[in-house]
Amino acid sequence: MTSSRYNPYQVTDRNLALELVRVTEAAAVAASAWTGRGLKNEADGAAVEAMRRAFDTVAIDGTVVIGEGEMDEAPMLFIGEKVGAGGPGMDIAVDPLEGTNLCAKNLPNALTVVALAESGNFLHAPDIYMEKIVVGPFLPEGVVDLDNSIEANLKSLAKAKKCDVSDLMLCTLDRERHAELIARTREAGARVTLLSDGDVAAAIAACLDDSEIDIYAGSGGAPEGVLAAAAVRCVTGQMQGRLLFEDDEQVARARKMNPGADPSRKLALEDMARGDVLFSATGVTGGALLRGVHRSFGGRTVTHSLVMRSKSGTIRFVEGHHDYHIKTW
Ligand code: FBP
Repeated sequence: MTSSRYNPYQVTDRNLALELVRVTEAAAVAASAWTGRGLKNEADGAAVEAMRRAFDTVAIDGTVVIGEGEMDEAPMLFIGEKVGAGGPGMDIAVDPLEGTNLCAKNLPNALTVVALAESGNFLHAPDIYMEKIVVGPFLPEGVVDLDNSIEANLKSLAKAKKCDVSDLMLCTLDRERHAELIARTREAGARVTLLSDGDVAAAIAACLDDSEIDIYAGSGGAPEGVLAAAAVRCVTGQMQGRLLFEDDEQVARARKMNPGADPSRKLALEDMARGDVLFSATGVTGGALLRGVHRSFGGRTVTHSLVMRSKSGTIRFVEGHHDYHIKTW
């Protein structure tokens, strides 16, 4: 007899989280054949192809809303592409290889990333920059704000964490455009971790207890911002974003992608990722968040993934042991 508490839709949802991990695992294993070869486009291409294939077995009627670009510039996982084996209508945000340079140089924190939400729940972000600020859970709402100075944000965060500003660690991308942010953060007394690439992992790190990052700030890719927002929703952190435009053409693109909305407004977390969100990432190269793909000679391939769901708040680290050597290389 079927229990009255049985809800087939919810069961599908829960299973989807585990389906998603297969997708990021497949992409990570494919990309891992390219780590350290100095060929970022080939690594990305391998991840894209594996991810695209893996989606064919997922029981959704998916539409890519954050992907590899427009249809005419990306052969697979382009914005608007339909993926999945059929099922509930879902929006999909992908970064088949987040940190293409990290993979090419075999540096830490290259990831494969997918997020999923019911249709209409992700910001449609053009491939431009986004200003971002992220802090972790259990802090007063609005403890930091994009409109405040970095000094004010650090002071407020230190007060909420009951520590001194000098105890805080800010993380940002090591870019010339962040020179002032870095200098002012250090001047205020806080420390700075500089990343060569990969701000999705950094945004997640700012939300996790066992990381030394207290706040992620600065500008990075807008598509990566939406993926980070999906992850931050799952770990109940706080995030704000703002699209940064270089010319009118970019403004027009953002307007077209999100009709009726002011493209330069400050974006709350829920403006970027709403509703029940699923998120999965698998490490390609090892880092503080995830271990990289490990291929044992003649043996199994081991992957390490993070799978999360906003509705349940469950964070799972999944270690997969695969027989992939048969078909992947
Ligand atoms: P790719 O994987 O596309 O190379 O992106 C890596 C990345 O570091 C992102 O994590 C970040 O959001 C963006 O590039 C920053 O862009 P830029 O290198 O132009 O500062």
